[in-house]
Amino acid sequence: MSDAKRGQWGSKVGFVLAAAGSAVGLGNMWKFPYITGENGGGAFVAIYLVCILLIGLPIMIGEVVLGKMTQKSPVGAFAELAGKRSPWVGVGWLGVITGFLILSYYSVVAGWAMHYVFLSVTGTFANVSPAELGQVADHFDALKANPGLNVLWHVLFMAITIGIVLAGVQKGVEVAARVLMPALLGLLIMLVLYATSLPGFGPAFDFVFGLHTERLTGAGVLEALGHSFFTLSVGMGAMLTYGSYMKRDDDVVSTSITITALDTAVALLACLALFPITFTFGMEAGAGPGLVFQSMPTAFAQMTGGSVWSTLFFLLLTFAALTSAISLLEVVASYFIDELGWKRIQAVAVTGAAITLFGIPSALGALDVFGSGMEEAIGHSWFGLMDYLTSNWMLPLGGLGLSIFVGFRIREVERAHAVADGSPLGGVLPLYLGWLQLLRFAVPAAIVAVVLHALGVL
Ligand code: TRP
Repeated sequence: MSDAKRGQWGSKVGFVLAAAGSAVGLGNMWKFPYITGENGGGAFVAIYLVCILLIGLPIMIGEVVLGKMTQKSPVGAFAELAGKRSPWVGVGWLGVITGFLILSYYSVVAGWAMHYVFLSVTGTFANVSPAELGQVADHFDALKANPGLNVLWHVLFMAITIGIVLAGVQKGVEVAARVLMPALLGLLIMLVLYATSLPGFGPAFDFVFGLHTERLTGAGVLEALGHSFFTLSVGMGAMLTYGSYMKRDDDVVSTSITITALDTAVALLACLALFPITFTFGMEAGAGPGLVFQSMPTAFAQMTGGSVWSTLFFLLLTFAALTSAISLLEVVASYFIDELGWKRIQAVAVTGAAITLFGIPSALGALDVFGSGMEEAIGHSWFGLMDYLTSNWMLPLGGLGLSIFVGFRIREVERAHAVADGSPLGGVLPLYLGWLQLLRFAVPAAIVAVVLHALGVL
């Protein structure tokens, strides 16, 4: 297919912006703080950082390389290099399905963020008296108990995502990321500065960075691994798809490093802004998926101009979610465009609508709200099950396939070229070989070990 028809990045920074937009999202500001809280802090954070550096980053480079080499989306990339009937094509398929499932519940949380923009704008978090501060968190329970509201915001968020993906690759994503990413970073830094003035900052800092190893479980290690994939958007071909819009001389290595560093910075800043509030106001660190929606507004409600801060925060959270959601839908739709020859408008409309429908059980806030007993029976609501399956199992499995494939199954000359062309770092032989060894041995071994450990075998 011609480049013009598939689309390419409009500028050199196009890929960085879009890929950073994909990586930075709800995973950083909603999920990371809440699972850090649930897993007792420090030791979990340490394992997460190790996973990012030694597993996530090497896989990201591998994924982008595969896309750059083949100029295809996941299924097509494996089919081209391994043959149409090769089992490797299954890794591409797994990616498409994973993207479908992730977006179905991701959109629900993004809908919550939109609802909070609405609450903020209408002054819900302004002029709250100290005596009523405790009730700020109750807005989340009210939202959870309202299935119609959840479905409404979910559908609205999906409609916006579909609209942007319909407009094509370059325009929407690049512009959004160029303006919003710096704004988000700036706001987070200001919130962390504010948080240093709170009495809870000391305990919060110790919670996030103190190594309380006794609190870590095998399931926690698996969750840290899974989240390192989720937050970097690797393991399902999203970075592969974005890499496929690269030109020959675009730099794979330093862009991957930049994206990883930025993503990690946002996640840690989010924790440093959030936990001081949690501890200062006597809230529960392990509160679960509602954490960011309960703690942040409590602080905003105390600030002068709280409505403005709160609006800004949830607006930026919504935009961060949007640039991530776009990458998820792009993978699913690309399959139909590249492999089945559908028109873009048709592919995006059909897959977008299917994901919206499939997300409704998640939006209904867990089927157990209606007494299905799912949560009691298997320990997960529908929403929780989607998150658990995709992050903890499907992404690591996809990452395992990707690392072995890129490590062993592609031709050395082509791999080396895709890494080194346009990349000063990628052309340094010891670095290249170090990356390759990581991808071939350390990454697969670590993934298998963590999975066996979580299954209780190791
Ligand atoms: N990384 C995004 C976040 O942290 C979510 C996301 C976007 C994603 N695209 C992905 C996760 C692809 C896994 C795979 O919010």
